[in-house]
Amino acid sequence: MKDDTMTRPAVLILLGPPGAGKGTQARMLEEEFGLVQLSTGDLLRAAVAAGTDAGKQAKAVMEAGGLVSDDIVLAILRDRMADPDTAKGVILDGFPRTAGQAEALDGLLAQSGMKVTSVISMEVDDQAMIARVAGRYTCAGCGEGYHDDFKQPATAGVCDKCGGTAFKRRADDNAETAGARLAAYHAQTAPLIAYYEARGVLQRIDAMAGIDTVASSLSAIVGRLSAQ
Ligand code: AP5
Repeated sequence: MKDDTMTRPAVLILLGPPGAGKGTQARMLEEEFGLVQLSTGDLLRAAVAAGTDAGKQAKAVMEAGGLVSDDIVLAILRDRMADPDTAKGVILDGFPRTAGQAEALDGLLAQSGMKVTSVISMEVDDQAMIARVAGRYTCAGCGEGYHDDFKQPATAGVCDKCGGTAFKRRADDNAETAGARLAAYHAQTAPLIAYYEARGVLQRIDAMAGIDTVASSLSAIVGRLSAQ
């Protein structure tokens, strides 16, 4: 029987611990393949900034490096998935993070005739992740990501993408909270690697390589999927 997975909009999941490069790579894939990046971290930070009820409940959990409850995360993701732009395919960045979220995602996608196309496990070393997270900053205007050591703007103090000159750091990007986030990843999210491997949709990449090398690996994988 013909597999119609690729005739449906692609649903790509980037799985990996804090600092693995999910956001960095999702933005690049979004530009290259026209998919829409959905970061539950970004959606939750927007809810916190807007002072919504969900944001108020999520704030303390995020600052402590724990996982926000499945109910809150799923409600936020469901709302975003209802936007028409997601019909062209999505890159899920930071979701799912628990077995409950993975099961709920299947149900949500089924309502639109979609299913998970591919899950890419970004394999990295824990200690390096703390350094990546602690050195991260983003453009306050467009959200482009940078790093004190690994990715500086071409002109110091000026965003490569939008020319903005204001930058910001996340409240949870410090060594202590990064440790708690890593622990949450290993306890609750890493088991999803085996879950998706058993479904035959998992691929692994070495995400310890430089940003451009990782981008090439991902681009080749997504390109092959698009060509099927
Ligand atoms: P979220 O915003 O998703 O954070 P995270 O998973 O901790 O991931 P990060 O954003 O820290 O890392 P990344 O992999 O995107 O790395 P990046 O590309 O920026 O979640 C935050 C919080 O929200 C969670 O702790 C939780 O409380 C809550 N939350 C979110 N989703 C949830 C869910 N589904 N369920 C429950 N709670 C949820 O790269 C990091 C840095 O390294 C950058 O500076 C970058 O320039 C640099 N870099 C990237 N790649 C490389 C490379 N290859 N080499 C060198 N440097 C690199």
